[in-house]
Amino acid sequence: MANTIYILNGPNLNLLGEREPEIYGAATLDDIKLACAARCESRGYGMSFHQSNIEGEIVGQIQEAGRKGVALLINAAAYTHTSVAIYDALKTLTIPVIEVHISQPAAREAFRQTSFIAPVATGSISGFGTNSYLLAIDAAIDTLL
Ligand code: DQA
Repeated sequence: MANTIYILNGPNLNLLGEREPEIYGAATLDDIKLACAARCESRGYGMSFHQSNIEGEIVGQIQEAGRKGVALLINAAAYTHTSVAIYDALKTLTIPVIEVHISQPAAREAFRQTSFIAPVATGSISGFGTNSYLLAIDAAIDTLL
């Protein structure tokens, strides 16, 4: 589809729903995927949704988004705070990139205060629970209009 929004999810996000629910809530990644698909469809866009625990796979998906996508949402999870490889991959893109977080990393541990995504993102949406994803879809599409 020529109007596909890529949504990439990093390590441990496959455990949403059971992982630290007091921080990340009760929704599973499948719940988020369904909600994102509905929002993309309602705004006339397709979606390609992925999760990986492996840094190199995420780099590959970023490169694919650059070839086939019109915008990229990325919740790089812990790799947000560590990954030069993801930073370098995002830097090659010319499409809008929205950094997404369920929690608000800026209000958490010191090691979460650094983001390798933010300097190469169009913008960041954090702290709104799983609604961060839907806000980011709207932000990405509004950027494209
Ligand atoms: C997260 C925040 C990161 O600091 C953390 O490592 C995650 C999830 C979030 O969505 O709030 O795994 O990206």
